[in-house]
Amino acid sequence: MPPYLIANWKMHGDRARVSAWAYAVNAALAQLPSPPRTVLCPPQPYLATARAALPHNAQLMLGAQQCHHEKSGAFTGEVGAGMLADLGCRYVLVGHSERRAQGMSDAQVVASAEAALQAGLVPVICVGESRAAYEAGQTTQMLDAQLVPLRALSSTQYLVAYEPIWAIGSSKTPQMQEIAAAHRHSKSVLGSATPVLYGGSVNAGNVGEILGLAEVAGALIGGASLEIQSMCAMIAAVTTRG
Ligand code: PGA
Repeated sequence: MPPYLIANWKMHGDRARVSAWAYAVNAALAQLPSPPRTVLCPPQPYLATARAALPHNAQLMLGAQQCHHEKSGAFTGEVGAGMLADLGCRYVLVGHSERRAQGMSDAQVVASAEAALQAGLVPVICVGESRAAYEAGQTTQMLDAQLVPLRALSSTQYLVAYEPIWAIGSSKTPQMQEIAAAHRHSKSVLGSATPVLYGGSVNAGNVGEILGLAEVAGALIGGASLEIQSMCAMIAAVTTRG
């Protein structure tokens, strides 16, 4: 199966950049016989912008950066999973560490992932250890606290993104054998068929090596996904691998 490349724009960009990026990256994907499964997660207001820039049969897919666990209701500023599906999203990030840092609990992560599944979206559930846990050799314990609750989900149609918090936006990555071990551990908790992506300072220089690991099904990319050229370099790197 082609690998996943998921671009998480966080709170960056504007309408013109989203539009130009979606058009150009989709055109690049359309040239490839077996393109990576590529997803753009722009800031929420630009989802419709990205969609409008894409042809009907686009290779590039859309994802959102979060969803609320309730379908609808008095939740000012929140967005429901069904609304995202209605906009053409196929994926949604759930439990990114930047949202967990704002108080999102493990229970809310499970509830949001369940809401996404019920809406027909594929949740990309983010897990990862803190620097303190990594340095104390407690990575698997911290992962277990985030992974074990996911066994309660009603479906296994989700992706996991292993993102060590200390690797995000830091230009630091774990060693290859540490990435492989964390992925193997995640699969041992959730089932060997669970696709596990890696995230944290992925760029055009390291994506080929990381996705060359048999355990790694793809990458969740922040900073290096923002520029068209860098994104296309990553697409090329994982398309020619092997
Ligand atoms: P980064 O972000 O690639 O900029 O480290 C990854 C993420 O937070 O998903």
